[in-house]
Parts: sequence; structure tokens; C-alpha cells
Amino acid sequence: MDIEKCRITYYPAQVLAERAQPVEKIDDSIRQLVEKMTDIMLENKGVGLAAPQAGVPLRLFIISIEQTKENVKVYINPTVTTTGELDSAEEGCLSVPGVATKVRRYKKCKVTATDLDGGEFSEEAEGLYARVLQHEYDHIEGLTIVSRMGQTARIIHRRQLKALQNGNDP
Ligand code: NI
Repeated sequence: MDIEKCRITYYPAQVLAERAQPVEKIDDSIRQLVEKMTDIMLENKGVGLAAPQAGVPLRLFIISIEQTKENVKVYINPTVTTTGELDSAEEGCLSVPGVATKVRRYKKCKVTATDLDGGEFSEEAEGLYARVLQHEYDHIEGLTIVSRMGQTARIIHRRQLKALQNGNDP
């Protein structure tokens, strides 16, 4: 894997539509990938980024709700289990630029993952953090906000989706 060649991927790139593969070993290439993903996320003012969004089909994502490098948290081979009620709120995605759409997510979830040092951790999440975890987890399962759109939203955003399908990256 050539990390220098990693670029943000846009819908409908195939890597965004496939279930990602587990990370087998946390080595320098994974650490470099995380550095690169952090740069991409912060440059684009995102709060989260999954490896497929950097063109790499691995089960790994990062989150920084504060949008700072110091607060970047790394989730390797994560599992996210949802609980409680559903809630609808507007979401965007760096890989689907120009589209903001309401997405139903669970209000609470629990994440279990491995960190960059190889340690396993678990956290309970709610609110925005729970929403971002579910959004990023979707990415490693091959789903984007486009997959979550209803018919009405697809009609509202048809021009932009078409532009992306035609390869008119921003
Ligand atoms: Ni996204």
C-alpha cells in the first residue's frame, strides 16, 4: 500500500461500496495510513474518516469531534452495537460533497475496537458522537449516506448525485 498515493474517494467509487477487510497487523503502514487520513479529514474539515474514503479497503476509521489533531481517536476492526431509539438529523459526508440529507440513526451505541498500540477498548456513546460512529461504521460496511437516502432525498439531490456519477469531482 502506497500511502503517498492515498486521496479522498468520492461516491460512487467502488471502494466505498464494498465491505472492508479486517486489519491483520498494526504496523508502520497502518500508522502512516492513520497520519494520512488525519490530514485528509482535517483539511476537509471533517469530524470522521474511514479508510475506504482514503481508497484503502480496511476496517479502520478515525474520529475527532473537535476537529483537532490532538483529539483524533483511532478505531481498528471496530464493532458498533446500537441501542435505544432512532433519531433523524442532517448529515454530510466528505465522500459525497454537496449533499446534506437527513439520516435516521440510533441515539446510543457502544463501540469496541483496537487502538494504534494494539489495545482493545470499549466506549458508550450518545448524541453526535454516537451518530458519527454509526456513519463511519457504515463506511467500512460499504454504505454511504446515499445508501441511507429515501426516494424523496434522491430526487432532491439528483443533480449533485448525477454530477458525482459523471466524475465531476469538486
Ligand atoms: Ni462519510
